[in-house]
Amino acid sequence: MRGVVLAGGLGSRLLPMTRVTNKHLLPVYDRPMIYYPIQQLVHAGIRDILIVTGGDHAGDFLKLLRNGQDFGLEHLRFAYQDGEGGIAEALGLAEHHAAGQPVVVLLGDNLFQDSIASAVDAFRANPTGAQLLLKEVDDPERFGVATISEDRVVEIVEKPTDPASSLAVTGCYMYDARVFDVIRGLEPSARDELEITDVNNRYLAWGDLRHRVVEGWWTDAGTIRSLHRASGLVAADRSNPVLTGADPGLEGS
Ligand code: DAU
Repeated sequence: MRGVVLAGGLGSRLLPMTRVTNKHLLPVYDRPMIYYPIQQLVHAGIRDILIVTGGDHAGDFLKLLRNGQDFGLEHLRFAYQDGEGGIAEALGLAEHHAAGQPVVVLLGDNLFQDSIASAVDAFRANPTGAQLLLKEVDDPERFGVATISEDRVVEIVEKPTDPASSLAVTGCYMYDARVFDVIRGLEPSARDELEITDVNNRYLAWGDLRHRVVEGWWTDAGTIRSLHRASGLVAADRSNPVLTGADPGLEGS
């Protein structure tokens, strides 16, 4: 299985900081935001990762991450997304990297307290269709929201004004190689993006969508409030290996 971290977009909710750097290079407690999804993938046994980024500061990812060996990666690749055409557009750039294999996709601004390794192992054992990670939240209107019936996802709505449940679709997605054909068939949404929720709803319509509900905390870090919250959660969990990782470049801190 191959890993993909999506770190494009303009980060406009984190202005003015994102005027001078990419959102995913901002610190979450003691390390850049992008470290967390990379650590998760490494912890789940994935050694071949593509980072999709864009904007004026894309070169800084190479300076920071170099060849990825500090993280234990075998291959670290980069792709450049022109503009901000949406999460699904960014994922579409990973087709060559995936090379027909299933992919584990993490949004670059998502942090999970618990390892995603058991979910990745389950998908590795049955690598067809799609698998999502869901989490109960207090503010579902900020996210894609899943409705469950008889333990199956029956609907996903992107940022509903009146959410049917409090189950957010987190930014961890696993797909078989058909995902790239699905993306090619998408139409831009009202906000002119190719939506990952439309991809997930395609798998749902095929009856090929599985899910797990995560137990530990989960947060994004894409707003001032959630970035601040993420730092506090990480600071309070210093013995957690998926948050502290192999400490690349942090020796002596
Ligand atoms: O955090 C989980 C949520 O992420 C999901 O519940 C939603 O269904 C999903 O649409 C997404 O919502 P956001 O509005 O929070 O996504 P945002 O635009 O903040 O993008 C999240 C990450 O995706 C961002 O940190 C980098 C990547 N991205 C985003 C866009 C729009 C890209 O790589 N390229 C893009 O064009």
